[in-house]
Amino acid sequence: MKLKDALNIDDLRTIAKRKLPRMVFDYIDGGSDDEVTLRRAVSRYDDYGMTWRVLKDVAEIDTSTTIMGQDTRLPFFISPTASTRLFHPAEGELAMARAAREHGVIYACSTLATQTVEDIAKANPGPKWVQLYVWKDKEIVKEFLTRAKEAGFTGCLLTVDLAVAGKRERDPRNQFSVPPKPNLSLARQVATKPGWMWDLIRSPKMSPANFSHMIGKGDQGGLMGFVNSQFSRSVTWKDVEWIREFWGPGFAIKGISRGEDAKRAVDVGADAVWISNHGGRQLDTSVPTIDLVPEIAEAVRGRADIIADGGVRRGSHVAKLLMRGATGVALGRASLYGIGAGGEAGVRRALTIIEEEFRSTMALLGATKISELDPELLRIPKM
Ligand code: FNR
Ligand code: LAC
Repeated sequence: MKLKDALNIDDLRTIAKRKLPRMVFDYIDGGSDDEVTLRRAVSRYDDYGMTWRVLKDVAEIDTSTTIMGQDTRLPFFISPTASTRLFHPAEGELAMARAAREHGVIYACSTLATQTVEDIAKANPGPKWVQLYVWKDKEIVKEFLTRAKEAGFTGCLLTVDLAVAGKRERDPRNQFSVPPKPNLSLARQVATKPGWMWDLIRSPKMSPANFSHMIGKGDQGGLMGFVNSQFSRSVTWKDVEWIREFWGPGFAIKGISRGEDAKRAVDVGADAVWISNHGGRQLDTSVPTIDLVPEIAEAVRGRADIIADGGVRRGSHVAKLLMRGATGVALGRASLYGIGAGGEAGVRRALTIIEEEFRSTMALLGATKISELDPELLRIPKM
């Protein structure tokens, strides 16, 4: 199948699987433990049935909205994901950021990006946010946030569901590492992926580009070893206070699953509460995010925006999260399958597919603007 023949996100996944070495594809595609959260995240949307309002003029549909103070053409955007150059060795985050810019959606860059915030900002002068993992050394955090702010990033997303890396069993089975280590396992996996291998050989060595001065220190085994050795496991609400104060407005806490935490997030100054289980990569058997939106909204009481992600593979999934009460929806794997399938053009394809599906879902629901995606239209499954 060619990129132009991809009709849906699953088609992009099929192409990405063909093009990427197994360890790279599985790093994107996989989850933790038994991958229960991962599977349920996608299938749970099917349990929510839709009713629709008939005989409404849907000739014009306005999909624009505002998420965490940022006006945007569409209610979905690109979620932060680590090491994008793994999936696209030549450009990585630059390709992703450009596609977001071209398509008019917000781009969020990971702490573990393989391009610098300065280069990403050059590639994408549009709206962009930066995600934060908290390093043991507070000065590194401050320096990173300062650089991101100076480069033009206007939102900070503090991820709080990764005190330690989840147990992702596909990774050790594939001898996964970042950067990929030249061994027999890699040789076998790349034998049929010459395009990816060629790109890798021709491009500079992959690294957490914003922290190149730290590379090597305490890195005991690939990306996850790096994560476990460099990031603090002792981040608490006290840290959130100083980080929020240091960053200022445009601050979200990503990885919330409980109302009381959502309330506390707003109390410490979060402008958005982000309901997420890290795409089923962390605590397995966590509750599907779509189930949680109303209780989080109830706790937040309109004092902050609500972002949600997890398993979004269709435009109707975006609509369902909005109908449950989310303000904005983040795409993780949907855009990653896109970049794996065809770089920048692949991400554009993914965004176009989700947009077209979302627009036609709105039309079929009889909704002409985002505020008309109300909970009345949904039939809620038994919890
Ligand atoms: C992620 N995610 C993530 N989140 C984050 O805050 N910082 C990060 O560096 C990463 N890295 C990352 C890598 C890969 C390969 C994936 C698939 C995901 C989580 C991501 O932002 C988002 O929460 C989930 O991906 C949402 O679920 P879906 O859309 O992938 O099902
Ligand atoms: C991941 C981390 C690095 O999910 O966020 O792979």
